[in-house]
Amino acid sequence: MSILDKKRYTITSALPYANGPLHIGHLAGAYIPGDIFVRYLRLNQKDVVYVCGSDEHGAAITIRAKKEGITPQQIIDKYNKQIKESFEEFGISFDIYHRTSEPIHHQLSQDFFLNLYNKGEFVEKFSEQYYDEEYHQFLADRYITGTCPNCKSEGAYGDQCEKCGTSLSPTDLINPISTLSGKTPVLKETKHWYLPLDKYQPWLEKWLIEGKKNILKSNVFGQCQSWLKSGLQPRSMTRDLDWGVDVPLEEAQGKKLYVWLDAPIGYISATKQWAIDHGKNWEDYWKTHENPADDATLIHFIGKDNIVFHCIIFPAILHAHGDYILPENIPANEFLNLEGDKLSTSRNHAVWLHEYLQEFPGKQDELRYVLTSILPETSDAEFTWKDFQARINNELVAIFGNFVNRVMVLSHKYFDGKVLNGSPLTAVDQSVLDELKSYPATIKSSLEQFRFREALAEFMNVARLGNKYLADEEPWKVIKTDEERVKTILNVASQIVANLAILAQPFLPKTATKLFEMLNFPQGNWSDAGNEGLIENGHQLGEVQLLFDKITDEQVEFQLNKLAEAKLKNLADNAKVAPAKENISFDDFVKMDIRVGTILAAEKVAKTKKLLKLTIDTGIDNRTVVSGIAEFFSPEEIVGRQVSILVNLEPREIKGITSQGMILMAEDADGRLDFVRPDTAIKVGSTVR
Ligand code: MF3
Ligand code: ZN
Repeated sequence: MSILDKKRYTITSALPYANGPLHIGHLAGAYIPGDIFVRYLRLNQKDVVYVCGSDEHGAAITIRAKKEGITPQQIIDKYNKQIKESFEEFGISFDIYHRTSEPIHHQLSQDFFLNLYNKGEFVEKFSEQYYDEEYHQFLADRYITGTCPNCKSEGAYGDQCEKCGTSLSPTDLINPISTLSGKTPVLKETKHWYLPLDKYQPWLEKWLIEGKKNILKSNVFGQCQSWLKSGLQPRSMTRDLDWGVDVPLEEAQGKKLYVWLDAPIGYISATKQWAIDHGKNWEDYWKTHENPADDATLIHFIGKDNIVFHCIIFPAILHAHGDYILPENIPANEFLNLEGDKLSTSRNHAVWLHEYLQEFPGKQDELRYVLTSILPETSDAEFTWKDFQARINNELVAIFGNFVNRVMVLSHKYFDGKVLNGSPLTAVDQSVLDELKSYPATIKSSLEQFRFREALAEFMNVARLGNKYLADEEPWKVIKTDEERVKTILNVASQIVANLAILAQPFLPKTATKLFEMLNFPQGNWSDAGNEGLIENGHQLGEVQLLFDKITDEQVEFQLNKLAEAKLKNLADNAKVAPAKENISFDDFVKMDIRVGTILAAEKVAKTKKLLKLTIDTGIDNRTVVSGIAEFFSPEEIVGRQVSILVNLEPREIKGITSQGMILMAEDADGRLDFVRPDTAIKVGSTVR
């Protein structure tokens, strides 16, 4: 059975937090794949609604507001607008781009909560939660960070470690820190409403593990399996926050719904709004029907950090409610990296879509092409500007664009832009057309398995086929001797262009539109693809337009420099500098006798972690100095090094050793140490002033 057998589809792409602009990682994660799939469904005349919108609640928003010094409302208004525009520019063809701050969404989220509450699904629990005494606020989710108990990496959030994907509670964190005050929080009692995921575990195992083993992508299935294996815990669906959807209970005054309860419901409220706007029935797209064949097929496109929420928590909520369909598939992508490093909003290591649009105007399809070619479908992938340039210049320009351009230009040159029947097809023509006919099925199969990279590669093979055909048949030479043959060659080539136009639609929408204009041909459906006689004898082609042009070395340089500058700026911004000390007199300064010395020997001081015992040639004498550098340097690596040493410091007894002087070290805000020493070797005993 093919996924295309269904009649109605509800397709979602993750609601991005309206807390910052979009970058290429967003596009590659959830939006390009969703858009390709939806365009493909529409080309097959399916009844589909593609919904998305801004996720406008949760700590992601309020923390950003605090950082920018404006209100949460201003943050969501600003970024919702910017995000929406970027999606439009890149042709992400949502039927609606909604907002979770809309009243219709608050209403539906509260209805959902009450439905579960009235059924007695929630477990009510008083518990000790972390609380920031300085900010008078409980610390959930992103308000608290610490070391991940699973992978031990730092900076894990109170709800999730983004490094290993583990879903967490604040109390799981090692060394928890409030992101508000930067201080260690205290525990304080509060009441919350928990979704008993442990209770749904058996159901989830059946539905997900047994039912979706051969449906989910292996990266998604693997994650689900490991969560269920470690055992699900009840998860609080309410928060002590002042931004979000109010918990609709008298006794929960001042509490809000957990953002991961309300956000996925945003898919439904967006559909409701769309249905109102377009005279549709939203329930057709979300509710279960008496006859399961009437149920819509629900597919969530997301990035890998969203897997637990879409595969476990949201389905459990839908299941507990009971009236709703469950997702058929959740084709999550892994992460996209940029120039060897993780994409990062906070470090400004990203390619921002709004900036790309200014720097590469009109090149939306080019970015779609490159990102689709490298989608992180099965493992993390890497975007580099060199690769961006190479794919555009060597593939889009040199193969696709070149082929189309030659067909158009030659047709206009020889036959006034008419597609004509010439001498009968040769065996070569026939085999090219046969190959052409085989592609739609190949591409269809890739698309329906969510293998978009593969689908795009096959699409490009159609352009390659055309390019090679022209190169082999050389109509520009044949024209001198056999005009009838050239008519046939260009006719065959035009049929390939028409097929390219149809097949390009899911991937490169702007380019496809241009191709149809150039061909002077109505937009075709998927079922037209593979047809070798799309363009009739005598058809008049349109004007030649340029499809793609080259990315220059300067453009690549510019982008690389921009990233390098962002890196430097980030380093500078993050350098916490100790405040200046009081002035001292010159006399005080010259009292210090600092010399260049050489480390002759070094050994660890027994029973200490930080101390090394050094023997230093100061030029004056050889002396012993105890230095707290053992965490950063091993004895072996520093013997022979020159150092700066304060030689007239009062001798001190350290761990039973008399230390005669002090080695000068540079120390950054994180406590990292390095020697202060001459750039080139200099005579020991030289003074440092
Ligand atoms: N805002 C979330 C994120 O960026 C995604 C929300 S998806 C939804 O990770 F299902 F909750 F809508
Ligand atoms: Zn982790």
